[in-house]
Amino acid sequence: MLSAIYLVPLLCAPLSAAQLPAPTAPAGNPVTVSKANLGKALFWDEQLSSTGTVSCGTCHMPETGGADPRTKDNWNPGPDGVFGTGDDVHGSGGVPLSTKTGHYLQDAVFGLSPQVTGRVAPSAIGAGYSKHLFWDGRAGETFLSPETGAIVLPSDAALESQAVGPIMSSVEMGHIGRTWPEVVSRLQSATPLALSGFVPTALEQWIAGRTYPQLFLEAFGTNQIDGARIGMAIATYERTLTPDQTPWDLTLSGVPIDQVLTAQEITGLLAFLDPDSGSCGTCHSMGQGPVRFTDDDFHYIGVAPQDADLGRALVTGRDRDRGSFRTPQLRNVALRGPFMHDGSLADLAEVIEFYSQGGIFDAPNKHPEIRALNLSQTLKRAIVAFMTGALTDPRVAAGTFPFDRPSQYADSIHEPVEFGLGTAGSGGHIPKIVAIEPPKLGVGDITLGIENARGGALAILLVSPADTAGGVLHSGARLYPHLPSASLQSLPALRGLGPGNGWGSLVLPVPNDPQLLGMPLFAQWVVFDQGSNSRFAASAAIRWSWF
Ligand code: HEC
Ligand code: HEC
Repeated sequence: MLSAIYLVPLLCAPLSAAQLPAPTAPAGNPVTVSKANLGKALFWDEQLSSTGTVSCGTCHMPETGGADPRTKDNWNPGPDGVFGTGDDVHGSGGVPLSTKTGHYLQDAVFGLSPQVTGRVAPSAIGAGYSKHLFWDGRAGETFLSPETGAIVLPSDAALESQAVGPIMSSVEMGHIGRTWPEVVSRLQSATPLALSGFVPTALEQWIAGRTYPQLFLEAFGTNQIDGARIGMAIATYERTLTPDQTPWDLTLSGVPIDQVLTAQEITGLLAFLDPDSGSCGTCHSMGQGPVRFTDDDFHYIGVAPQDADLGRALVTGRDRDRGSFRTPQLRNVALRGPFMHDGSLADLAEVIEFYSQGGIFDAPNKHPEIRALNLSQTLKRAIVAFMTGALTDPRVAAGTFPFDRPSQYADSIHEPVEFGLGTAGSGGHIPKIVAIEPPKLGVGDITLGIENARGGALAILLVSPADTAGGVLHSGARLYPHLPSASLQSLPALRGLGPGNGWGSLVLPVPNDPQLLGMPLFAQWVVFDQGSNSRFAASAAIRWSWF
């Protein structure tokens, strides 16, 4: 039975009052074109991370509805810190654990590889409506200066509060102990979006070859760069990402529903809203009705055991919030996935199955609406069809304005190609080369790491503009004039104990010599490994080009 409250908006037009409004901007940070453009540049600039490998957008791509396309392949070991034990969760890859000097440290779980967040990245598109952001709502609406702690914006500023977090996180974008003066000085000398091969024309024309201080001058009136302004510009950009051109919006604007949705989608919509059927609208709806598809409240619905991730209780300390997470908005949900805070449900069919069964786990605070619904196959398919067909904004799916974006170094052809197999050292371990940072001329340093070698052994990095055969000791590496201490860069001794546990890294200055543009660079680690028959081990080689 469809309750009367929903019959009115569904069957009568016009409904313009219920359409998706623009999100409220804080009084002290009104939306302006300049600020939104600056925020867009910052959001997509991988130079905002310590390693030059991660932008906000890395984990929030329009083509996956503002979430992270890598989620299904990125794993975090979950609460017990051990992989493969059943409580593993999906997350988003950030940066390797690293120090102020750019050296990598061995993380207990991820080694020298990029660390993965403990929760799935929710959508940054349409996020500007909530007073509390993150799955557990810990980013509140009062924005404090990240440098001084003073109140900058007293209300409506959850996006600002959220945006300054990842930049300092040693998992997502920063090195351990990163400070705002470091971020600011990096931006002061960076060419905006230098690592992006393609920048959308409108943004490129706005940047017009200017520096970040010049862009801050236009956006804020002075050329000062600080953490608060970075947060305010990024939040402004996010406020312009309103996904309000879904088929559902056409019905809200008064177009008869049967001209916009298929019969199956309408069946799905009715079941979605009907408290006696799918009952989804109890939580995935608010205010005047199903516009944003979230009540912005926190519920335990039985996705995981209540204590696997305490969720909202981490913020409130309240027992009844254990395992509760904020109801996600469902616009563009079909572009996202895997679903839920832990990514445990692979697709929308699994989600609907989950609800039909009444959730997987139980606890005293489980919401009463999460109960065995025993939906028919027809209704399950219809609800999925509604979420897929009615709630997707085609501009988000296609990445067209305002959801267009600069390309990223991480998805460019510049990324190093690994070749050769390496030579095993003691214990049969083949040393692994870690080379993820962009060899961009004039942009800071690049770090090359080694792991899976013999702890305590001496390792050298061979760097050469000519091919080194991967996997064999290469004695012919030529002197490389642009790297001060030549082609043989040695490490004191690998850290870690025993076969396979050795690791270390070297930070190489990047020359600012235009003549090198497009020139290849080869690198390979060689380890003097006393425990192996051949007395040495070697990583595979990598090849990349200066750009
Ligand atoms: C390494 C991946 C990663 C990077 C980089 C990253 N995020 Fe996120 N983002 C996440 C994850 C994971 C969450 C959820 C964390 C949680 O709830 O505990 C999140 C949450 C959010 C949310 C909250 C959405 C909601 O509905 O609660 C917004 C907005 C957001 N990020 C924007 C940004 C911005 C802006 C940046 C850059 C300053 C950024 N993110 C950088 C992974 C990332
Ligand atoms: C009691 C409130 C409640 C009800 C009822 C409810 N949901 Fe949810 N929904 C949530 C919460 C809370 C989450 C996040 C839970 C988590 O991650 O632990 C969620 C997550 C989801 C997601 C995953 C979104 C994402 O980005 O990961 C989808 C899809 C979804 N719900 C659809 C539905 C459908 C369809 C129904 C009806 C059959 C429904 N929900 C009923 C509260 C509810």
